[in-house]
Amino acid sequence: MFENMTEEEARRHILEEVGVYCDKFHGQKSWKEGDRISYASRVYDHREMMNLVDSSLEFWLTSGRYTEKFEEEFASYLKIHHCSLVNSGSSANLLAFMALTSPLLEERRILPGDEVITVAAGFPTTVAPMIQYGAIPVFVDVTIPQYNIDVTQLEAAVTEKTKAVMLAHTLGNPFNLQELKSFCARHELWLIEDNCDALGSEYKIDGSWKFTGTIGDIGTSSFYPPHHMTMGEGGAVYTDNPLLHKIVRSLRDWGRECICPSGRDNLCGHRFDKQYGELPLGYDHKYVYSHFGYNLKATDMQAAIGCAQIEKLDEFTKLRREHFNFLNERLQGAKGYLILPEAEPNSNPSWFGFPLTCREGIEKNKIVSHLEAKGVQTRMLFAGNLTKQPCFDAMRKKGEGYRVVGDLRNTDRIMNETFWIGVYPGMNEEMLAYMADIALEAVENGK
Ligand SMILES: Cc1ncc(COP(=O)(O)O)c(C=O)c1O
Repeated sequence: MFENMTEEEARRHILEEVGVYCDKFHGQKSWKEGDRISYASRVYDHREMMNLVDSSLEFWLTSGRYTEKFEEEFASYLKIHHCSLVNSGSSANLLAFMALTSPLLEERRILPGDEVITVAAGFPTTVAPMIQYGAIPVFVDVTIPQYNIDVTQLEAAVTEKTKAVMLAHTLGNPFNLQELKSFCARHELWLIEDNCDALGSEYKIDGSWKFTGTIGDIGTSSFYPPHHMTMGEGGAVYTDNPLLHKIVRSLRDWGRECICPSGRDNLCGHRFDKQYGELPLGYDHKYVYSHFGYNLKATDMQAAIGCAQIEKLDEFTKLRREHFNFLNERLQGAKGYLILPEAEPNSNPSWFGFPLTCREGIEKNKIVSHLEAKGVQTRMLFAGNLTKQPCFDAMRKKGEGYRVVGDLRNTDRIMNETFWIGVYPGMNEEMLAYMADIALEAVENGK
C-alpha cells in the first residue's frame, strides 16, 4: 500500500483516511425524543482523531512535541506564564497542593498539622491531598444559589496555623475572588484555584477581566471527558510564579532537579559541574532529586487531542453560556419550587452544569427519578457534604484530622436537596427544550 511513498506521504495518506473514517462513523448523531440526554460528553471531530493517530504513528508515547505545544498554547490561552500538563485533574490538585509543601518555600511552606481553608460541598480530590499529607482541612459553609464559599465566614476560620485556601469554582461559577484575594493577602496565605469545572470562566478583579485559575497562586484543570475540553484523561497546573512552576515540574517528574524534557540532555549546560546535597561534585544533574516526587506526566497522544480541543474552547464556552441561559429562561416557571442558580457578581461563568435546589416540600428524589426515567441524566453536587462520606468515618469518630466552622447548614442542604443537569456544547435547542419541559413536569410530580 505504501509502495513508492515517502514516510511523510504515507503518514498524510493515513491521516486523510482517518479523517474520512471519523466523519463517516463518528459524526454527530441527531437526537430524537426517547434518546438519553447525558449531563456531559466529549465533543470532537476528525481533527482530534487525526492528531491522535499522528501522535501514535510517531510512537514517541511519553510527553513530547505535542505536550510542549499544548503547554505553550494553553498558557497563552489563559494569559499565564507557566503550564504543566499532567495525567488528570486530581493529579493537578495533588501537585498544586504538594508544591506548597516544598522546603524551597521556607517559612511559607505548608507543614503537616497546618490548616487549609476549603469547603465540603464539592469534589473529593480538591481536599484529599491535604488529608493525605497530614494538613488539616477547615470546612466553611457555602451560599445557595452560588454554591461557593460564604466569604463572611472566612475570618472565623483563620488561625495562626492557616497557610492556604484551596477551593473549586463550583460548576463553573467563580467564587468571590476579589474577597479571597484580599483575605489571602491580609493573612499571607496561598490561594489555589481548582479550576477543573470552570475553564473559560472569567472574573473581573480590580477592574480587569481575567480567566479563573489565573488569579490565585496556582490553578488546576481537568480534561476528563465531561469537562470543558478533553483528552480522555488529563489535567494541567498553571501559575505565574516561576518558583512554584519549578517545584510543580520537579514533583511531576519524579522529584528531579533537572528541567530537561524527556529525551533531551544538558539544556542548562551544567549537567556535570555542580554540587548538590552531599553528592560528589559534578554528579549527573539528570539524577539529582530535590523533592520526593511522583510521575504524573500525560502521554503525547493525550496532548495531541488537547491541541485540537483548545482551538474549539471559545466556541465551547459560548455554547455552554447559551445553553445555561436557555434553561434559565425556560425554568423561570419552576422558581416557586426550585431555586435557580445565580452567577457570582463580577463574573462571567462558563457553566459546567445547571444546579437546582428543591424548595421546602419538594422531594429531590422524586424530581431526579422523574428526570432519569424520562432520559434526562442528573448529577449530584459531587460529594454533597464531604465530611459525611465514608472516607471521613474514622476521622469523624475520632473527632480529629479536620475542623468545621459553624454548622455547614447550606452544605447539608446541598447534600439533601441539590442536583444538576447538563449544558455541554454537544446539546442542541431541541434537547434543551425537552430537558426544561421534563424538569417542569418533574416539579409537578414532586410537589
Ligand atoms: C472540582 C473538581 N476538581 C477535580 C476533579 C478531578 O478531575 P479528574 O477526574 O480529571 O481527576 C473534578 C472531577 O470532575 C472536579 O469536579
